[in-house]
This record gives sequence, structure tokens and C-alpha cells, in this order.
Amino acid sequence: IDSQLFANTLIRWYGQHKRALPWRDTRNPYYIWLSEVILQQTRVAQGLPYYLKFTDAYPTVQDLAAAPEDEVLRLWQGLGYYSRARNMHHTARQIVDEYGGNFPDTYQELLKLRGIGSYTAAAIASFAFREQVAVLDGNVFRVLARVFGVTDDIAAPASRKIFQKLADTLVPADHPDTFNQAIMEFGAIQCTPLMPDCLFCPLQQACFAFNHGMVQELPVKSKA
Ligand code: ADE
Repeated sequence: IDSQLFANTLIRWYGQHKRALPWRDTRNPYYIWLSEVILQQTRVAQGLPYYLKFTDAYPTVQDLAAAPEDEVLRLWQGLGYYSRARNMHHTARQIVDEYGGNFPDTYQELLKLRGIGSYTAAAIASFAFREQVAVLDGNVFRVLARVFGVTDDIAAPASRKIFQKLADTLVPADHPDTFNQAIMEFGAIQCTPLMPDCLFCPLQQACFAFNHGMVQELPVKSKA
């Protein structure tokens, strides 16, 4: 499938099926960052109340930076992986102290911050600043592996480059933010791991896995 048609199909699907989530109504990098840190290793239903709690308690990065760490950790209670909260607090202070309270606005600069890896940097850069960079999470790996017939083991570190290269060719310059949200949502709702809704899938005709009876076999993931 041609990359433009792929992007347009996902974006149209997204317009019809997306869940209304508060971090999708903002271009504020601080809110986008909060949501992505909370949603690492956490389901949307579980993370949503924490997102609302944190944005209520700390409406700006300055508020978060000024808060005592034990208060931040108390608000985080129940989410687990407390290093996420500690890194988040550290990074809030760094943004205030070293960046004048402004989030870095490129993928490469964002990557330098503690707790921000390639996924989170791409999410902030594309959602907040419309940088043409692809997000790669488990949902994106699955959609790409199935539609394009990529058989590389997604658990192997070397595969990341292959998927990133493919994904970067698919992100449209005019809507990188919507495209990235769309492909993640498509993986979360339509192209699911166990029972994907292939019968009502707008990419069915183009899908390698569907056409080769390999939907259950893709993505390839070795046990770690
Ligand atoms: N999980 C991680 N990031 C997300 C986002 N931006 N929207 C929905 N679910 C997510």
C-alpha cells in the first residue's frame, strides 16, 4: 500500500473511532509529557484518573518542579514503577532551571532528558510540535508487522531500526501528530493482539497478514 493511502486510511478511521481522551485536546508539551509518562506500563483506564490528579495538582511544569518529592510520590501511589515519578520530578526541575520553563521542542533535544526515551521523545515532538517523527510502541509494531509483512522479531533490539525506518517513511509531513495518534489507536482498538477485527478493517485488502493467513503469526515476538 502506498504510504499516503495508508496514512489517509488510518487518519479517516481515527476520526470515526478515536476515544475522547483529555491529552488529545492539547498541544501543551507539559500535559502531553505527563500523559505519556503515566501511560508507560499503564492502561488508559488506570492512568486517566492520575492524569487528572496531576494536572489538577500541578497545572504547570513550574508547579510540579516546586512540589516536594514525597508529595509527588504520594500522588503517584498505586501506579507503581516509582522511578517514573522520580525521573518526572527531576526532569520538571531541570526544565525550569535549565530551559527557562520551556520544553525542548525537538526529538533530539527531548531525548536528553531523564526518563524520556525514543517513544516519549517522538510522542512529545510530534503531538506538541508536529515534528515528522514516528512513534513506535507495541501497537505500532503490531500494525506495521501485519500490514507490511515484517517478520523481524520485535523483541530483538536490532529490529527497532527496521521498524523505525519503515514508520518514518509513513508519517505524513502535514499531519504527523494525527497520524501517530491514529496508528496507536488503531493498534489498541482494531488491530488488537488476539482478536483483531479484520472483517471490518479498512486496511484488509492491503494487509499482508490478512492476505497470507498470518494474522495470528504477526508480529513475531520471541519469549524474553
Ligand atoms: N498510551 C500511551 N500513549 C497514549 C496516547 N497518547 N493515547 C492513548 N493511549 C496511549
